Amino acid sequence: MRRLPILILVAAACAQGPAEAPLPAGVPALYFAGDELGYLEPCGCTRPQLGGLERKGTTVAGGVLLEGGNLIDRPGRLAELKVETFLAALSEIGCRAMNVGERDLALGIDFLRSAAGLASFPLISANILAAPGKLAFAPFAEFEAGGERFRVVGALDPALAPAAAVGETEAAVRAALAGMAPNTRALLLFCGAEPGAVRLAAAFPELHAVCFAKSGGEPLVRSPRIFSPGDRSRWVIRLAPAPEVLEMAEGIPGHAGMRAALATYVRRLAEEDLLHRMNARAPPSGSGYAGDEACADCHLGAWRTHEGTRHRRAIASLAKTGREIDPDCVGCHVIGYGERTGFLSVDETPQLAMVGCEACHGAAADHLRGGAKPAKDPRASCRDCHNADTDPHFVFETRWERIRH
Ligand code: HEC
Ligand code: HEC
Ligand code: HEC
Ligand code: HEC
Repeated sequence: MRRLPILILVAAACAQGPAEAPLPAGVPALYFAGDELGYLEPCGCTRPQLGGLERKGTTVAGGVLLEGGNLIDRPGRLAELKVETFLAALSEIGCRAMNVGERDLALGIDFLRSAAGLASFPLISANILAAPGKLAFAPFAEFEAGGERFRVVGALDPALAPAAAVGETEAAVRAALAGMAPNTRALLLFCGAEPGAVRLAAAFPELHAVCFAKSGGEPLVRSPRIFSPGDRSRWVIRLAPAPEVLEMAEGIPGHAGMRAALATYVRRLAEEDLLHRMNARAPPSGSGYAGDEACADCHLGAWRTHEGTRHRRAIASLAKTGREIDPDCVGCHVIGYGERTGFLSVDETPQLAMVGCEACHGAAADHLRGGAKPAKDPRASCRDCHNADTDPHFVFETRWERIRH
């Protein structure tokens, strides 16, 4: 993960028009988040890692939070639970509105409307349509903070959701900005990339700020009015009065309410048995999994080495925080999760509850019957698990020395 300085301060280029007049003292800081992509918290596989609701909660406490959308990555029951977790948690830390992103929308308008019942703030979008000419959500939300009045408008770039009914952005924003009371500050949460945000900011000089989403990205402050918080919960933007990028870095103490929300989430994973429900059960990558004990007789040297490594205990690392039932986690900590003869749960398949021989060499049941031999040099597999998030400084040569066999 690339490191940014703790705080990137962007000089305030002040006051050209009423929209850009600085906020008076006494107005609480405005915080902008978005593009969480399902990251409630960093995985903890390595340190340091950025991100997470616990640090976000502590950071934005006492301010006003605006959520740009895309709480989740891809749809499914796991994503629904995450959305519900986010909405309840964000309500606790001063969120005033959430723009609906294209990934949220993939869960369906009906689900989002009912999940919105968990939030103390509205879900907004000025251009997502439930039917021709009929908006699915409120186009904007208004709130007061420190004696100042704000209208926050949500919009989605139609190009991001080709399968959904999404109206043209500029016309939608124009309609949503109409009829504002004097001295109201207008803000736009735009789920779309930078060029679109720049166009909208130019078309509507009355916008005090435009926060955009650029999926897959680092944070970006394009101008005092145009910025993006990056993705995966790793940063938030504070507008006070100029936009600053705040890193959700280790060392920020965890917010107790957010910790409780995460604990509830893990409990619900267990209650709903998501480990089984999210198991895709695709055919195995080879002949079927046998488990390590089946290899010991003939490959005693390899087995002894492996026995002494942390690969062998990878499930225990998850179990410490109850995550051995989390479909987001087990994939890299066991053998063959998601495949037909692979890991099901610690109780049902204890022989596969580790990063065992076949996690690297591939399914080897045929080999035991005298059939095809497993991969002789599976070093390409390391990167499936030791990736940029979980192990950014992985180098095969030095790491292999620790598990050579
Ligand atoms: C009955 C004995 C036996 C068992 C049990 C056994 N193997 Fe083997 N394995 C062999 C033999 C023999 C070879 C071939 C060695 C050679 O060709 O030099 C081999 C080769 C391999 C190779 C290297 C492939 C190559 O091309 O050189 C791998 C990897 C391997 N086995 C993995 C496993 C795994 C994983 C298990 C457990 C699921 C396992 N073996 C179980 C006997 C066994
Ligand atoms: C299926 C996922 C997966 C694959 C494939 C994988 N690893 Fe790992 N590796 C892990 C996990 C998970 C841990 C941490 C285990 C723990 O501490 O709980 C780990 C830990 C390690 C460690 C620390 C071991 C120790 O005892 O200190 C080394 C070294 C390592 N991996 C090297 C490799 C190399 C080299 C490869 C490729 C040949 C590889 N890994 C392939 C998941 C994987
Ligand atoms: C993409 C693969 C992958 C996923 C998904 C994954 N892990 Fe890991 N995890 C690893 C690897 C690789 C390591 C070892 C990293 C190293 O040795 O530096 C590891 C190590 C760990 C460790 C041991 C850290 C230590 O040093 O003691 C913990 C705890 C852990 N992971 C928890 C989790 C949790 C919780 C999740 C789900 C939120 C998760 N992992 C998901 C690959 C993964
Ligand atoms: C973390 C990944 C990983 C795990 C776990 C792992 N291996 Fe390997 N294994 C490798 C890699 C990579 C090589 C090739 C290394 C090389 O050629 O330098 C290898 C080589 C081998 C070979 C071939 C040795 C040779 O040169 O002929 C055998 C046999 C083997 N492993 C068996 C096992 C058995 C049995 C287990 C479990 C007890 C196991 N391995 C666990 C990654 C792994």
